[in-house]
Amino acid sequence: MPTFGRKAYILTRHADIKKVLSDSENFSVGFDLDDSRADPRNALGQRAGNILVMDAPDHTRLRRLLTGEFTVRRMKRLEPRIEAIVEDHLDAMERKGPPADLVADFALPIPSLVICELLGVPVEDQPEFQERTRRQMEIGLTTEQIIELADESLEYMRSLVDRKIEDPEDDILGMLVREHGDEVTRDELVGIAGLLLLAGHETTSNQLGLGTLALLQHPEQLALVRDDPDAVAPAVEEMLRWLSIVSGGGPRMAKRDVEIGGQVIREGELVAFNLTAANRDPAFLADEPDRLDVSRAPTTHLAFGHGVHHCLGAPLARLEMRIAFPALLRRFPNLTLGCDFDDVPFAVTKNIHGLEALPVRW
Ligand code: HEM
Repeated sequence: MPTFGRKAYILTRHADIKKVLSDSENFSVGFDLDDSRADPRNALGQRAGNILVMDAPDHTRLRRLLTGEFTVRRMKRLEPRIEAIVEDHLDAMERKGPPADLVADFALPIPSLVICELLGVPVEDQPEFQERTRRQMEIGLTTEQIIELADESLEYMRSLVDRKIEDPEDDILGMLVREHGDEVTRDELVGIAGLLLLAGHETTSNQLGLGTLALLQHPEQLALVRDDPDAVAPAVEEMLRWLSIVSGGGPRMAKRDVEIGGQVIREGELVAFNLTAANRDPAFLADEPDRLDVSRAPTTHLAFGHGVHHCLGAPLARLEMRIAFPALLRRFPNLTLGCDFDDVPFAVTKNIHGLEALPVRW
């Protein structure tokens, strides 16, 4: 929950967070911090096109252009391609033989390849892109490092967008240029590309890595995901709830005095929120909220946020996970952890929960 040195209220209750996220009339994400160049909410170094930190009407205008590309129906068309990418990576793991690092060999490259293909990032640019994204997600970077990475990233995105304007192919950026070229500026295209690549890359991969670890620690639940196709979709939802890898989205600023949970938030004050706490709030989920239970009845978890900024990529992330988890567990039915649990390297320097590596054997 970065608030960049500014004091903020921190919300932890499910109901309070839902209320704030539903209320874009009274809470803004589009406010300026004192030093906007060093604002790590925008790792791209520019705000144009970054809908995550944009209020209506610009947010509504740009999000509308993108929504059609991320519908469940559109995702269905992607299914065979995602299956093929997953199978390719499983084949490679099998060929190499155990042990493997599930993060480097599976969890990281799959979502990265999918989002790069969707956006039309050329294959030869992908390794460099992955490395820069990894560095951008580190916390504790100095202002100079943030600016340097933002500039590098911005430069890459500009050249990508220019190539798409020149030659709009059959990908999301090409579609935006062809069908909405007069509604969106070049800078906005650059911002959209950067946000989608960043958001679509690190999140799902962390969820795949941590989700696999969670299942390895709960073998009876792992068996259910492996053996029962009907168990997969609810299991993915429960892993999203239980892990809540994005613990807080961007802070909101009160546009006027508003009361939340008995506390008056004054105009101009910031509110941060902890989605991990919300998803384990006993007032939201009475039945042992700290326990992973993949056969739980569906919950209205907040792992993808809520309201107008609800995760645009949720249908894609869900599809990737519904394909990847069972495929992995069926290919390696006796998958086990390759080290002691205490030695698993958690990614403690990142602002999204994840793993640096996940040693596995089979
Ligand atoms: C927004 C979580 C995957 C693109 C969000 C938000 C959360 C979130 C919590 C709301 C932040 C806020 O309100 O401040 C996740 C999780 C993912 C995931 C847990 C995977 C397990 C993806 C993917 C993409 C994506 C794969 C891209 C294709 C976005 C975008 C927004 C967003 C563009 C901003 C939406 C807006 O402001 O209107 N995500 N995300 N996410 N996510 Fe995701």
